[in-house]
Amino acid sequence: MRKYDAVIFDLDGVICTTDEYHYLAWKELADSLALPFDRQYNNRLRGVSRIESLNLILALGERQYSDEEKQAMAQKKNDTYRRLLERMSPADVSDDVLSTLKALKEKYPLAIGSSSRNTKFILSRIDLLDFFDVIVDGNDISASKPDPEVFLKAAAALGRKPSLCLVVEDAAAGIEAAGKGGFDSAGIGDASRLEGATYHIEKLSDLLGIL
Ligand code: BG6
Ligand code: MG
Repeated sequence: MRKYDAVIFDLDGVICTTDEYHYLAWKELADSLALPFDRQYNNRLRGVSRIESLNLILALGERQYSDEEKQAMAQKKNDTYRRLLERMSPADVSDDVLSTLKALKEKYPLAIGSSSRNTKFILSRIDLLDFFDVIVDGNDISASKPDPEVFLKAAAALGRKPSLCLVVEDAAAGIEAAGKGGFDSAGIGDASRLEGATYHIEKLSDLLGIL
């Protein structure tokens, strides 16, 4: 008997390498504020909403900013990020990712559970907007990972219990969210070393040995 009924994927850093573009856009902003932001610190922002990410970056300095100033900074970062996303195409999905998604789609309903408000734009750039059965993103939730809301909404839309859905994540916040919501998880990339993950995978096609 199979263990899972559905699969819920994070987007940034799992399906495509937009996590790198997030880093570059935040790095530009952090440099302009002379804040010591680097790739290691960037790992803390994975899965975390735009404004919470900004707060984590600003915590690297002493200065306090008004809500208006923070909104303007978040907007500036998103403008930089969107310019990077404009360059994306279906070629930005690796063969390993695409062949795995296609193989899994034969057997399971598939969902995206992402904190990003740019999710649908990204999926349309890489030509996967119509591929997933369910998409829940940053526009649909009030609490971002590590809160489980995004995954719980995806499971509800799939009509499956959390315990029967496998979550695939590259973020510590996402693995924590999965656990809190009652989901098993597969950690990939930065999350492949996290103790909280049920499975540790190196590449997406490793899922085919689990599912
Ligand atoms: C997540 C990313 O998927 O989306 C985070 O891992 C990002 O780094 C968050 O901050 C929000 O993204 P966006 O596109 O709404 O700024
Ligand atoms: Mg991610």
